[in-house]
Amino acid sequence: MAQLWGGRFTKQQDDLVKKFNDSLPYDRRLYRQDIRGSIVHATMLGKQGILTDDEMRQIVDGLSGILEDIENGRLAFSDAYEDIHSFVEANLIDRIGDAGKKLHTGRSRNDQVALDMKMYIRDEIGEISGLLRHFLQTLLSVMEANKETFMPGFTHLQKAQPVTLAHHMAAYFEMFRRDRERLSDIRERMDLCPLGSGALAGTTYPLDRNFTARELGFDGPCRNSMDGVSDRDYLIEFLDALAICQMHLSRFSEEIIIWNSNEYRFVELDDAYSTGSSIMPQKKNPDIAELVRGKTGRVYAALVSLLTTMKGIPLAYDKDMQEDKELTFDAIDTLKIEIPLFDDMIRTCQFRPDVMEASAKHGFTNATDAADYLVEKGVPFRDAHGIIGRMVLYCIDHKKALDDLSLEEFRQFSDRFDTDIYEAISLRTCVEKRLTEGAPSARSMDREIAACRAYLS
Ligand code: ARG
Repeated sequence: MAQLWGGRFTKQQDDLVKKFNDSLPYDRRLYRQDIRGSIVHATMLGKQGILTDDEMRQIVDGLSGILEDIENGRLAFSDAYEDIHSFVEANLIDRIGDAGKKLHTGRSRNDQVALDMKMYIRDEIGEISGLLRHFLQTLLSVMEANKETFMPGFTHLQKAQPVTLAHHMAAYFEMFRRDRERLSDIRERMDLCPLGSGALAGTTYPLDRNFTARELGFDGPCRNSMDGVSDRDYLIEFLDALAICQMHLSRFSEEIIIWNSNEYRFVELDDAYSTGSSIMPQKKNPDIAELVRGKTGRVYAALVSLLTTMKGIPLAYDKDMQEDKELTFDAIDTLKIEIPLFDDMIRTCQFRPDVMEASAKHGFTNATDAADYLVEKGVPFRDAHGIIGRMVLYCIDHKKALDDLSLEEFRQFSDRFDTDIYEAISLRTCVEKRLTEGAPSARSMDREIAACRAYLS
């Protein structure tokens, strides 16, 4: 018998019902957490005298054997079973007989699945956080090597003011640092163990919930059994954190795609992280960045899907909640391939400081500094703004940068200009004078880089 229930039924389950209802095809990936939870539950039942020592031993050994056999491929998941919980329990009974039938004493699949999923997410938070940490290290290396790589900073995707590549990358460092911090906040808040909540109303057996919570690495047992079986807030928060991280990756992708375009050429992606065209021999496409950007929809979908699933569920457990798994797993798998891929793509790409600098020079990114120069010479800012605006128009007409104008040309617009204007509007000066905290000057960046390094150590 592959089912855990049947006593009150007179008919076999319809085939299509089974196909629709079963979750083993995807919840099989919870087998480690399921077996670990069962081992701790059985150990506690033994400690409390609810099982004899001998029964407890048999169960623990049987479960350890199942784990081993799944891991080394001797035990395959058969689709005869409804879910991972039925699969493990039925296998245990096959192996050890009657003692196996006592494992589920004082437990329901409702607190069992809540536990399994929580432990699984806990592990995944650790892994994703590790991937992000590695990625941050890569960003930090780019920052350290490019404190004097001048480039245009943009607003409205129009050249605005000069920054450095280090400064630009540091902005992404902050975003992915927050993503990592969000994950650890969630990890802390979700740290209460649902095991012992039973189906919804606890149990009449004298369970030691503090023991199981501690053994399973939780801060303590959850405080309310109905909430224990039906809380999926932590999962929604987790998907929210993944969705935000995905949004950051997508923004970054968009920039890489723009920077890698024939028009910009700020970056050259490594051949190993690019793809070609079946018809156009000259093409080298940034497919990886495009695909990361493209996968944003499915990661957001996981969040919106679970929010929607949960919005109409009366307390406590309802089968709708089984829908918390597939899209969550998909979002996890997506991020876990994207983050290391993106990490490698950034680590191997060739930034083009010459192109970036030339672009900053020819986009009037020093116009604000030219206006500030006049202010220093006593011209009110609004007037200075107008003077430099007219000079920009003149430069566009004559296909020149501000730096290319002769002193005579400068003086046609204001007699306050002197030879020191050239130094004042050089890219280096424009960046070096931005000394406020968080600004692009090398001195400000040194402080920021030291703080980033401290965060990672
Ligand atoms: N597969 C189910 C889930 O993922 C396990 C819990 C089933 N509980 C129940 N009462 N049907 O939610």
